[in-house]
Amino acid sequence: MPSKMHLVADIPAARRICREWQGQGVCVGLVPTMGALHEGHLSLIRAAKGRCQRVAVSIFVNPIQFGPGEDFHRYPRPMERDREVCAAAGADLLFAPRDETMYPGRRLTFVRVEELPGGLCGPFRPGHFDGVATVVAKLFHILPADVAFFGEKDYQQLIVIRQMVKDLDFPIEIVGCPIVREADGLAMSSRNVHLTPEERGRATGLSRALFAAAERAARGERRSEELIRAVRADLVNAGIESLDYVEIVDAETLAPLARLTRPARLCAAARLGQTRLIDNVPLDLPVECG
Ligand code: PAF
Repeated sequence: MPSKMHLVADIPAARRICREWQGQGVCVGLVPTMGALHEGHLSLIRAAKGRCQRVAVSIFVNPIQFGPGEDFHRYPRPMERDREVCAAAGADLLFAPRDETMYPGRRLTFVRVEELPGGLCGPFRPGHFDGVATVVAKLFHILPADVAFFGEKDYQQLIVIRQMVKDLDFPIEIVGCPIVREADGLAMSSRNVHLTPEERGRATGLSRALFAAAERAARGERRSEELIRAVRADLVNAGIESLDYVEIVDAETLAPLARLTRPARLCAAARLGQTRLIDNVPLDLPVECG
């Protein structure tokens, strides 16, 4: 019989419930989100339920990870629907604080991410990862959990959080979960709702270009420059011309790789109208012959 989901907006209550669970010796999983939940988030909740006896989900559109001119104000916030989705997915606790609860008054202390691994989104979103690391650190304190689940769509975010947990000795395990895609390959994202039908049509070109390059890599192409050139050409042909980056990076450190000599990730970010899309695919090492 599923237990009723706790809906909590204040910090002491959220912390008390998680601590009670931990006191009972059960494994607690945490799924931090900004809401507008889709299948990608549901896959995280499922992974958490598969691994932990209790699952807490947080929904908070974190103002400090958005830069000036970014989409903080128009980020979708279908709170009532999200609450139902969480309950139906079997979450045990939904923590949905107000901005003033998370950031009351003047803030003097932040988590600062030095030497951001890789270029990727960092140069295009100054301060973004400091904002992410700060709020995730707060969430880890508010909702003390044993394991936290993050999607690989935000691959750089996943690596930044893993590094923060290591550097600051958070007693929590970080689990990365595979990207969930629409039937035509588009990576699921809360921001996809902003795409016009015409942009939505073109958006498919992003994952198509990445998968085509991944196939070439699997067939033996090791030169990053050549793979990146091909992705850029495919994107232009698909009508996606406003690119922030296309990069091939080490899958663990995010350092740029000139040749595929280790497990790598091909990552790209593009803008379609008002919407910024990011996506990435693993590049498997080609099988050596002979
Ligand atoms: O990936 C997200 O939804 C957010 O960046 C996170 C991790 C919940 C922090 O606000």
